[in-house]
Amino acid sequence: MKKYTYTLKAVFLSILLGMTSTSQADSSLTVRHLVNEQNIVSLNVTAKFLILPVQDDAPESKVCIVKDNEQRGTLMNVRLARERVDSYVPFILSDYKGQQISVDIQGLPADAVCWKELKLADSFDMSNKETFRPVYHHTPAYGWMNDPNGMFYKDGVYHLFFQYNPYGSVWGNMHWGHSTSSDLIHWNFEGVSIVPDAWGAIFSGSCVVDHNNTAGFGKDAVIAFYTSAKSTPWGDVQSESMAYSLDNGKTFVKYAGNPIITSLEKDFRDPKVFWYAPGKHWVMILAVGQHMELYSSVNLKDWKKESEFGKMQGAHGGVWECPDLIELPVEGSRERKWVLICNINPGGPFGGSAAQYFVGSFDGKTFVNESPVQTKWMDWGKDNYATVTWNNAPDGRCIALGWMSNWQYANNVPTRQYRSANTIARDLTLYKAGGEFYLKSTPSREMKQARGEKVSVPSFKVTDSYKIESLLKDNNGAYEIEMEIQVADASKISLNLQNEKGEQVSMYYDLLRKQFVMDRSKSGKVDFSNDFPAVTAAPVHAGKTLRLRLFVDRSSIEAFGEDGKFVMTNLVFPSSPYNQMSFGTEGSGYTVSSFNVYKLR
Ligand code: FRU
Repeated sequence: MKKYTYTLKAVFLSILLGMTSTSQADSSLTVRHLVNEQNIVSLNVTAKFLILPVQDDAPESKVCIVKDNEQRGTLMNVRLARERVDSYVPFILSDYKGQQISVDIQGLPADAVCWKELKLADSFDMSNKETFRPVYHHTPAYGWMNDPNGMFYKDGVYHLFFQYNPYGSVWGNMHWGHSTSSDLIHWNFEGVSIVPDAWGAIFSGSCVVDHNNTAGFGKDAVIAFYTSAKSTPWGDVQSESMAYSLDNGKTFVKYAGNPIITSLEKDFRDPKVFWYAPGKHWVMILAVGQHMELYSSVNLKDWKKESEFGKMQGAHGGVWECPDLIELPVEGSRERKWVLICNINPGGPFGGSAAQYFVGSFDGKTFVNESPVQTKWMDWGKDNYATVTWNNAPDGRCIALGWMSNWQYANNVPTRQYRSANTIARDLTLYKAGGEFYLKSTPSREMKQARGEKVSVPSFKVTDSYKIESLLKDNNGAYEIEMEIQVADASKISLNLQNEKGEQVSMYYDLLRKQFVMDRSKSGKVDFSNDFPAVTAAPVHAGKTLRLRLFVDRSSIEAFGEDGKFVMTNLVFPSSPYNQMSFGTEGSGYTVSSFNVYKLR
């Protein structure tokens, strides 16, 4: 039998309310436990937050606010702590300040530890509690994140929205979270900006800036398009909705005519909208099952289906998601080509989710893939998904951002306070090799501003092996390595990043197969998923000089070859930062002609 301490006030209230037991530690909350695991928490809102203790692997309870006998907002699924507390999330109460409300909590037994830890508070501790949290990559302060959404640039600010669960560190309750940055490196968390409603959760989508007030919400209104994803007892339903913001994305008003596009298809989602200047109209590309659909509109509210793309094209190992369609310059020429980005899950080259792309032409209505035989991948690691680009990026740039995880294990990676980061920002262009067009993903130039202390190693030759014993003096796990290698006649060039515990990421160039390979099977913590220990390989288009940039940030490595002709993104969870690099060879050796390490801030 559990013993609970009662405050006098709680006992008095419990008698008043006819309760049989109270178990909470916070005396300003009155908890009544009912039959069938239903619970009612009554309170006078004297603080900003109700702090909810959560346990990642607990079953979901349902939580909502009730005021004047009416449910306010939608029910949230929260994995409230039963046996232990993994982290805390705040339920924001500021709209009810000074009012008497109830919180209806369904599906939680009366002996759950949650009841002892539930409390009102005016502040919520967002300070970092995670050793694996990256230093220079965007992460949510707390809670779960997946796809980047609605990225737009306006008045010198990059806006990033993201699939966000503010009530736990696993997927669920999709909202749009919001962060802003002026340099793509330092991000401010702006909180939640679009919340679920009667049409469902808020799945992925995009934002445009309506400079000419085509929708009538106001000049320069920011307009968001997202998928309303509704779960019903008869199955899931997806449709497209819109919302507008007159304060640069801080708050949104949902369009009264939502949803604006409906369908009989089950997987019908992730609208990317952009202005097609030659035709003076808007275009929306949508992922539908395993193909894309293209729509056009002049007022952003009424949409006409123009075409479909994708049957018999590219990889079809899973559902198509998060599309994008962009026009890019081809390096070294005046040519421009259209690129259709298509994220796919599962069916990626190394299992799980990945981003493929098609290069071709687009006339405002129809996209034509000009190299249908080859499947092209944006990134050759396991952890770059849902990649999409910024609308209105300055200087004609096309800047992409991915979610740095994989649906195979995203919910299980060893963090608790938050889950998932974005990749670093990458500028996209095209290059031509062997008659084919390929995407080049160059680390955005802002990354150089993050460089701090620099350590240079003088040129050295590797005929057998070579070791750099210490990359940085105080290595906090956040750094960039930039190197240039003169291949000579080597057939294999191996580069091992390791820590003093022997945890290592083995990388090598196989120059016979023209591949760059990364093996993270001994990289540190790998046992949280059988799909995590993996070897990934990228094609290398280079001559006798190799240029490699490695961005390491506590729990990730992004390798860029030839400034982005290949990119490989892989998560790693070492128990201490990798601070050594050892080199090996097969063949007659090679020279590392330049080797710089930069601390990144
Ligand atoms: C891709 C995705 C999208 C969907 C969102 C839901 O990762 O499955 O298709 O909109 O995540 O969170």
